[in-house]
Amino acid sequence: MKDELINIALPKGRLGEKVYDIFEKAGYGCPSIRENNRKLTFEDHESGVRYFWVKPSDVAVYVERGAADVGVAGSDILAEYGPDVYELCDLGIGKCRMCVAGKKDRGDDTSRALRVATKFPECAKRFYMKKGREIDIIRLNGSIEIAPILGMSDVIVDIVETGKTLAENDLVVYEEIFPISARLIANKVSHKFKNESISALAAGVERVCAEK
Ligand code: PRP
Repeated sequence: MKDELINIALPKGRLGEKVYDIFEKAGYGCPSIRENNRKLTFEDHESGVRYFWVKPSDVAVYVERGAADVGVAGSDILAEYGPDVYELCDLGIGKCRMCVAGKKDRGDDTSRALRVATKFPECAKRFYMKKGREIDIIRLNGSIEIAPILGMSDVIVDIVETGKTLAENDLVVYEEIFPISARLIANKVSHKFKNESISALAAGVERVCAEK
């Protein structure tokens, strides 16, 4: 029985299920989480954890503000928002790539700004800034692939996992920007004051990930 619980933000969805399996194997199980209902928070005093499901892109916000002591977020989200958190380890799951993609037969007119449709404007800006290419960001929230098909953008900067979405829409990857995977992150203050329990949890998670 633990007095102080570690608050853990899990990304809702398929990745979150995998993440919870890892935490459970590491000794931080919370059986009630398996109950299929719409509850969002679960605690287990034996394991000393309180879990909550949040939107994957919001995990870093909960951790940065200390509502969660730790959480699991994709390195794409960390690269885009740059939250002030500690990155404790790479879980080696949720692997995909941040890419520039577009139509197969596109020619590049460098005399004007490149129109880039994306959910990741900061990643796109940094990438093209390094290249010294002027861009016009078109900020979208999903179905980014439609933008070049309709001629609204020249390229997209987006996540590619299996590559199916691109293939089925006759689009191709032009360049890979960086590889992505899920990371265990911690709030900086929690990491200081709950150091022992957070370090033990991170070590357990790392051990389970290394066994896979
Ligand atoms: C993501 C991403 C691509 C797709 C890539 O979209 O934005 O569209 O997955 O996966 P694939 O390479 O395996 O086809 P998501 O499913 O998050 O939906 P969205 O269109 O709402 O962004």
